[in-house]
Amino acid sequence: MNILVTGGAGYIGSHTCLELLRRGHDITVVDSLVNAQREAVKRVQQLAGREFPFYQADVRDEEALETVFAVGRFDCVIHFAGLKAVGESVGIPLRYYDNNLNSTITLCRVMQRHGVKRLIFSSSATVYKPGVPMPADESSELGCTNPYGWTKFMCEQILRDLVVADPDWSVVLLRYFNPIGADPSGRIGEDPTGIPNNLLPFVAQTALGRHKELHVFGNDYQTHDGTGVRDYIHVSDLADGHVAAIDYAMNHTGCEAINLGTGIGYSVLDIVHAFERVNGVKVPYVISPRRPGDVDAVFASPDKARRLLGWEARRSLDDMCRDSWHWQSMNPQGYGR
Ligand code: NAD
Ligand code: WQD
Repeated sequence: MNILVTGGAGYIGSHTCLELLRRGHDITVVDSLVNAQREAVKRVQQLAGREFPFYQADVRDEEALETVFAVGRFDCVIHFAGLKAVGESVGIPLRYYDNNLNSTITLCRVMQRHGVKRLIFSSSATVYKPGVPMPADESSELGCTNPYGWTKFMCEQILRDLVVADPDWSVVLLRYFNPIGADPSGRIGEDPTGIPNNLLPFVAQTALGRHKELHVFGNDYQTHDGTGVRDYIHVSDLADGHVAAIDYAMNHTGCEAINLGTGIGYSVLDIVHAFERVNGVKVPYVISPRRPGDVDAVFASPDKARRLLGWEARRSLDDMCRDSWHWQSMNPQGYGR
């Protein structure tokens, strides 16, 4: 199949591109490189042993997208492109609403014009209302606490409305839980700019000695050891989930929201201890105050993904910790800037 991947130079996009190429699909990538390096695209090509077209363009740029669609005849589009920093979205909401909503709307307009009506959309577990009973399933109540989350919520609604208006469309809204890990080659991985907000990059950089210690945000949550529990999922399992979603979209119309998680919750300290044990490194930490907005536990019901996509996560926490460290230790400066 021929797949257009927006945001394909980013963390989840690069791993999904690699998996699509390994399975023999053709791909075209559009990425503005606002939060990625061209080097990631090169490395995917090296790992797969295949070239593919890459356009450095903003998905909001309708003319640029028209050029891409004029050249390729796509069976399906995966739309990863988006800004994703929760804290930043609170400070500069307009940038987030503009980027994440207008990229989605422009993309759909161009797809419609070219008769391409299958879309896999990167949504997030963040659309579930804080405090809903866990595990969260796709019918759990929705509601967000920050502009980033609302962009995902609103894009989901836009896409549901699009399918109502034109039932020929097939849209899969994939709600990712907490992606971590990297391709086992250690050649591609997560490369955050500045000081990481997310747990795993911070843990890996602390093991490298780049930070004195990890701040564990709160140890008085209602969890088995008091620290926050999340559903961490290996990015290569996520990549497999996208391949399964494409197969589904090829054979169904309509709009489905589907969780991509493992269904297992690990605490911050579970992660720290597994990371130290698997990699033989030290991750010094201190207990710090809770981070505003955090909740005790978030984990998925993975049942719908199993039922509709025939997909489930296969990689273990040890795999995730080993592969995160392999990437970070082989690329201490990420892709290099
Ligand atoms: P990422 O920042 O590594 O990748 C996003 C890519 O999109 C980047 O390469 C960036 O340069 C590109 N991009 C952003 N806006 C663009 C635009 N207007 N035009 C063209 N390119 C643009 O992030 P990621 O972790 O790979 O996330 C991919 C998607 O999954 C995002 O939509 C994100 O919101 C969503 N998501 C991520 C997580 C997570 O924890 N990583 C969890 C849930 C959902
Ligand atoms: C995980 C756990 C922290 C850093 C975020 C977004 C969400 C989604 C994924 C995009 C929590 C604790 C963290 C640190 C810590 N992204 N922690 N010290 O908050 O579950 O989700 O990323 O859609 O929208 O909100 O992930 O990695 O930030 O935190 O103790 O230095 O680690 O309190 O319990 P989170 P995270």
